[in-house]
Amino acid sequence: MTDQRMPYPDIVGNQQAVALSERVFWIGALDPNLRTFDIILKTANGTTYNAYLVRGSEGVAVIDTVKEGFSDEFFARLESVADYSEIKAIVLNHLEPDHTGALPELMRRAPQARLYISQKAQSMLKALLKQDELNYTPVLTNDTVNIGDRTLQFLHTPYLHWPDTQCTFLVEEKILFSGDVFGCHFCDNRLFNDLAGDFRFSFEYYYAHIMRPFKEYVIKALKLIDPLQPKLIAPTHGPILRDQPLRYIQRYHQLSRPSLSIKGPQGEKTLLIFYISSYGNTRRMAEAVYEGAMSIQGIRASLYDMEGGEVAPFVDLIEDADALILGTPTINGDSVKPIWDLLSSLTVVNLKNKLGGVFGSYGWTGEAVRLVEDRLRGLKLRVPIPGMRIKLIPNEEEILECKQFGEDLAKELMGLRKPKVIDFTELT
Ligand SMILES: Cc1cc2nc3c(=O)[nH]c(=O)nc-3n(C[C@H](O)[C@H](O)[C@H](O)COP(=O)(O)O)c2cc1C
Ligand SMILES: [Fe+2]
Ligand SMILES: [Fe+2]
Repeated sequence: MTDQRMPYPDIVGNQQAVALSERVFWIGALDPNLRTFDIILKTANGTTYNAYLVRGSEGVAVIDTVKEGFSDEFFARLESVADYSEIKAIVLNHLEPDHTGALPELMRRAPQARLYISQKAQSMLKALLKQDELNYTPVLTNDTVNIGDRTLQFLHTPYLHWPDTQCTFLVEEKILFSGDVFGCHFCDNRLFNDLAGDFRFSFEYYYAHIMRPFKEYVIKALKLIDPLQPKLIAPTHGPILRDQPLRYIQRYHQLSRPSLSIKGPQGEKTLLIFYISSYGNTRRMAEAVYEGAMSIQGIRASLYDMEGGEVAPFVDLIEDADALILGTPTINGDSVKPIWDLLSSLTVVNLKNKLGGVFGSYGWTGEAVRLVEDRLRGLKLRVPIPGMRIKLIPNEEEILECKQFGEDLAKELMGLRKPKVIDFTELT
């Protein structure tokens, strides 16, 4: 029995454009053998670099290009539906090299074409092309460009997932060229979501690694996208979403909400303490910090031992928490792998302005506390109270200091801590 759902025999071999409508074509490239993308993503199913061409009554627009090594495929598909002399506009939704690799050559072949990029892309474009004299127009939300009877309308959607990113809407056909938004790394020569294999994992995985750190910007972008009610979404990677495209927008709405459901009473602040300890010294400190934090009304504190080494389950919790406090001994001049693993897994969430704090026991040099503090600051947490170090086993007095440290962090979190007044006589 022949499979009725496979209307595109061998688009890898024939290198023809694929029609999305009478006037809109896919002119991208397939990369089935890619196994890692941007270092951070696994691509077990390869990917596609989707570029598009729109034919208006007064010229042609090209939307995005492909990774450099795939230029031949892109140009072959482009030439199958248009002449270079017809190209009036080149729209770049995102300047990452997987979409701009073929741009310099396209500009050579279509020197008359004007580039349309987001306002934020201007300095990047210059850095990318290493040219000062460029024929481009920066655009913002609701700016439009006409190619006769076809209108491209721009949506400013920064940080999805670079500062320069934008989406482009083909008004007459209600097609959203969404850039990396709604995209995924999934290579299937049947191209359309109703024909391709099950790419749900890739869609979620892409969101989790690429879009999740920018949830607040996803929410802003969805406000612009919702009213458009696109009939088709054409992203730069993975299947073209022509069957029930609004479901993918809905899914982005869900994914941009907090990951955990039931939060505590209103006004309550959550403070998480993660520690690790070889001889129990940092653990004793952690318990005292915990006790101190809990003594402040409105604080919900929790204590976790990282000895299990597992970090993934904590990422959602930390994303939703108000404060992240870490306890680490110094081992060979550094903190230890479970702490670094935890911290490196946090690049997928937004930590800006959460409260941070660090403490730990040490033997002689005690570098770990400062190194972890620096890392927390690097991740944009606020670290208002200097890290606390105790040499070897904490005595009773030091345990009280740890309690005070926890109390101070909790007060800071509740906005109860008075600014410290420095007495100049202390400085002399
Ligand atoms: C293998 C090893 C390496 C260590 N390296 C350092 C070091 O470089 N600098 C330092 O200040 N302390 C070092 N220490 C001492 C520990 O930081 C100290 O014993 C600390 O109290 C351990 O706290 P914990 O019981 O919470 O693990 C080292 C300890 C061990 C076992
Ligand atoms: Fe990208
Ligand atoms: Fe991309």
